[in-house]
Amino acid sequence: MKELKVQPIKDGTVIDHITPGNALKVLKILGLLEKQPDSIISIAMNVVGKRGKKDIVKIENRELDPKEVDKIALIAPNATINIIRNYEVVEKRKVKVPDEIVGIVKCANPNCISNTKEPVQPKFIVKSRNPLKIKCYYCEKEPEDISSQII
Ligand code: CTP
Ligand code: ZN
Repeated sequence: MKELKVQPIKDGTVIDHITPGNALKVLKILGLLEKQPDSIISIAMNVVGKRGKKDIVKIENRELDPKEVDKIALIAPNATINIIRNYEVVEKRKVKVPDEIVGIVKCANPNCISNTKEPVQPKFIVKSRNPLKIKCYYCEKEPEDISSQII
């Protein structure tokens, strides 16, 4: 088995098949290091799996709520979430783009209420999933490049 570049974990969550190069953005969106600075996290980037290049994020001793992880579908639409218990994959699920995206993507319209001093979090509504199209809930502007607008 020359595939495993990172050690298996005993318990926790493995986010696999992340679009190559996006592992750090995934971590940022999850906000794990802010919420739990002592999280044990390993990252592999641009490793070659059975289906080509991918990034992987492994979080030990934390079973992430799949709903919470769905936020990363914006930048890693093919990612899978694997819950690991005692070295076994006990649950595997693909990420799903949530219906509403709150506080993750910034609106590109400088006059949008979400970009003023008002305490309004940016919010987007999903118009289509494939291809992914979202529009600002407030001003209806559609981001051209979603990943560059991630907060
Ligand atoms: N994994 C891990 N620690 C474990 C078990 C699995 O880090 N104790 C990781 C594997 O390295 C892999 C992911 O969790 O990146 C999913 O494991 P598994 O389902 O066994 O791998 P595949 O069959 O290759 O998954 P898929 O079909 O989703 O590609
Ligand atoms: Zn807007």
